[in-house]
Amino acid sequence: MNKRQIFIETKEYKRFAEFCGACIKYKYIGICYGLPGVGKTLSSRYYANWDFIERQIAYKTAKEIGVDADERILKARTIFYTAPAVRATKMYSEINLIGGKMRIVKAAYRTIAQGEEEYYSGDAFEDIDLIIVDEIDRLKLQHLEQLRDIYDRNDIALIFIVMPGIEKRLARYPQLFSRIGFAHEFANLSKDETHHILEYKWEELGLSIKLEDFSDYEAITTIIKITKGNFRLIQRLFTQIDRILEINNLETITTEVVEAARDSLVIGIK
Ligand SMILES: Nc1ncnc2c1ncn2[C@@H]1O[C@H](COP(=O)(O)OP(=O)(O)O)[C@@H](O)[C@H]1O
Ligand SMILES: [Mg+2]
Repeated sequence: MNKRQIFIETKEYKRFAEFCGACIKYKYIGICYGLPGVGKTLSSRYYANWDFIERQIAYKTAKEIGVDADERILKARTIFYTAPAVRATKMYSEINLIGGKMRIVKAAYRTIAQGEEEYYSGDAFEDIDLIIVDEIDRLKLQHLEQLRDIYDRNDIALIFIVMPGIEKRLARYPQLFSRIGFAHEFANLSKDETHHILEYKWEELGLSIKLEDFSDYEAITTIIKITKGNFRLIQRLFTQIDRILEINNLETITTEVVEAARDSLVIGIK
């Protein structure tokens, strides 16, 4: 995500947040599946407030711990973890370490901000409700065993973020499959919502283009048709639109510009 870009709380995000809530409530393993680019990773990070937490647990020395934390650290009850592409054997200890560091930062913050006695319990997941593991598709089935182990040993919910179709692979692994309580589809943006975002949320998307830059309604409709509500494609298409406007010294986005942008996209979305 580029710097100016702001997370938009879309309907799909709200549905995802509800799904997380349900998994927490019932302490289930949930599967969230959706096509690449719809916003699964970003939504998970946003739900976990991970941009903030990641910075907090990245301390290098003891002095740094919790100094620029704020109340948000005390509310943090979700771990976001990306399954490693290689060397997945250490997942258990890596996730444990993240949980432990979150506890340490919380304890340090309480001491700094509230003058409370520092207290470290040995349990890394004591105040964790949910662990979201992204890119589960990368893992071999034997590595999922570690996640099942974390789930079984702790009073937590677990969500696997996957590509559609992985259920069939997971079904071959009954020990894990039998523990899956919910499945949730992360869908593309609807036409109406894409429209709304394109019209009113330019700045949040970090795009430099404004509604006035469109020559007509048709150009917007063409964008919606090409991207089919896929967030990543919207971003990519706009990068190309920007380029084409610049190369050709144009100021307005016409249907022709949109189509030229589509044709110059590397990946096939035609
Ligand atoms: N809610 C959102 N608000 C703003 N931009 C978003 C949002 N969701 C996704 N995006 C954009 O779409 C891109 C792809 O999202 P990502 O979460 O990586 O998709 P996925 O994990 O489903 O493949 C992001 O880099 C970002 O540019
Ligand atoms: Mg992703």
